[in-house]
Amino acid sequence: MTPKFAVVNGPNLNWLGKREKAVYGTETWQEIWEGLLEWAKEKRVTLAFFQSNHEGDLIDHLQKIDTEVDGILFNPAAYGHTSIALRDCVASLDIAVVEVHLSKIQKREPFRHHSTIADVAEASLAGFGPKGYILGLELLKTIYDRTQQR
Ligand code: DQA
Repeated sequence: MTPKFAVVNGPNLNWLGKREKAVYGTETWQEIWEGLLEWAKEKRVTLAFFQSNHEGDLIDHLQKIDTEVDGILFNPAAYGHTSIALRDCVASLDIAVVEVHLSKIQKREPFRHHSTIADVAEASLAGFGPKGYILGLELLKTIYDRTQQR
């Protein structure tokens, strides 16, 4: 079976390449996504992508894909510091969620240190830049492969 994973990005991540380049780098999301698709081809994984700047739309989407994919790589962006609603949603999903942040949130402003998602996710990665998305997908694949061995 080919596993299917969803990559879900929260607010302002559609502006990668334009926004705060010193923090998030110069790569656009399209460029990062192309790298993820190459990884997926090599690993025989199917990927889907969704981005929204709206909290409720992210929740609606996560609820929808709970029965459609085998795992979610989620960058909640700023909502990861503020949203209890997103946390409640992630806590109720049946599939594995790995949280990812491009920047090392724990080394930035104090209001970014806390993640509402971290303790309801399987794992959290922060500070690896775009490579964090590959590492997150590798983790989801490891989790998926384990469940297939049972
Ligand atoms: C981010 C970190 C958040 O603090 C910030 O609000 C973002 C991006 C990251 O990927 O480093 O929008 O999630």
